[in-house]
Amino acid sequence: MSKLTLPNIIFTIILLCSFCFPPLVSSDNCHSAEKKALLKLKAGFGNPEILNWTSATSCCSWPGVTCLSGRVLSLGLANLSGSISPAIAGLSFLTRLNIEESPNLTGPIPNSITKLPLTYLAIKSTSLSGPIPSFLGDLNKLSLLDLSNNHLTGPIPDSITSLPDLSTLVLSNNKLTGTIPPSLFHGLTSRTSLDLSNNRLTGNVPRSIGDANFEYIYLSGNRFSGDISFLFGDQSKHLTEIDLSRNMFEMNMSSLTFPSPLVLMDLSQNIIYGSIPTSITGLEQLTLFNVSYNRLCGRIPTGGRMNLFDASCYVHNKCLCGTPLPSCHA
Ligand SMILES: *[C@@H]1O[C@H](CO)[C@@H](O)[C@H](O)[C@H]1NC(C)=O
Ligand SMILES: *[C@@H]1O[C@H](CO)[C@@H](O)[C@H](O)[C@H]1NC(C)=O
Ligand SMILES: *[C@@H]1O[C@H](CO)[C@@H](O)[C@H](O)[C@H]1NC(C)=O
Ligand SMILES: *[C@@H]1O[C@H](CO)[C@@H](O)[C@H](O)[C@H]1NC(C)=O
Ligand SMILES: *[C@@H]1O[C@H](CO)[C@@H](O)[C@H](O)[C@H]1NC(C)=O
Repeated sequence: MSKLTLPNIIFTIILLCSFCFPPLVSSDNCHSAEKKALLKLKAGFGNPEILNWTSATSCCSWPGVTCLSGRVLSLGLANLSGSISPAIAGLSFLTRLNIEESPNLTGPIPNSITKLPLTYLAIKSTSLSGPIPSFLGDLNKLSLLDLSNNHLTGPIPDSITSLPDLSTLVLSNNKLTGTIPPSLFHGLTSRTSLDLSNNRLTGNVPRSIGDANFEYIYLSGNRFSGDISFLFGDQSKHLTEIDLSRNMFEMNMSSLTFPSPLVLMDLSQNIIYGSIPTSITGLEQLTLFNVSYNRLCGRIPTGGRMNLFDASCYVHNKCLCGTPLPSCHA
């Protein structure tokens, strides 16, 4: 028989008390407060049939929900309507939120989302409208932000330039206006990707974003202007895709140097002059190249992968000539 020493008494009390409190993670391996938050979220979406989330089952078994140790880590949902309930803040371990293909989803992004440790936030192909909320700048663990294919208006908020780990920003296919904030990707050393295509953005692209180590950059279908040759500088050695088409960029192509991993380069429909450098023939991965509708002149280089590109990639320039356009007479 054990003696009634003080340590033994304390041990016994601890042992007994582990039965006095209801466990935080219930036997169905789903945190009860998080289950409640998810059911509120479901109600905010109008309790759609596709969310067959019923309280009888573990929330960790619900479609779209991924847990670790009974805590919801990731949500991936589609075909929703209604709006995102502020109750989402109850998922205090949520690092990934992906909502897509939900044209009937409207309303604002709730401010309470800033309480979450999100690293990945994608809300795309919905009817989200209004400005991009500046409180997204408080999500300081965010590495990816994708708000593409919504009805967002107004400027890119300055606040998101202070996100220290943001390396992928996708805001394409909205109605955004204004300019690119100058300190976007400032100080970031990891590979960066930026997609701002098909908005109503204007002005010069800030020179400072040329310091980012881009993997892809899509700026097509805006009203950007100015010289953007700095994007082809030495720091761009990992650049694989660059789409600057359908803007008002003005630059001399003659002196550009091309990063060797380039796969896609669309410069069509701008105000690009000079000639196509022969170094283009050294790009071994190039599969899409388009400089049509510019002010280029001179002989189109041959060799390398240049035979992949038809006349539509060169038409409507000042005086480009040679295969696949008519031959140069000189
Ligand atoms: C909910 O739907 C999924 C398919 O989306 C199905 O696999 C699952 O069995 C359903 N759960 C219940 C409780 O009906
Ligand atoms: C959304 O709806 C489409 C078409 O009804 C369907 O193909 C798709 O699987 C649905 N996605 C989800 C996640 O329910
Ligand atoms: C959106 O709403 C319309 C009209 O209420 C409906 O017909 C359609 O199925 C809904 N789409 C989705 C993806 O929920
Ligand atoms: C473009 O640059 C090349 C080489 O740097 C130079 O020879 C040419 O005159 C420039 N073209 C124009 C139109 O400025
Ligand atoms: C090149 O761009 C022009 C103008 O945007 C477009 O009409 C043409 O189809 C493009 N060619 C290719 C092969 O993509």
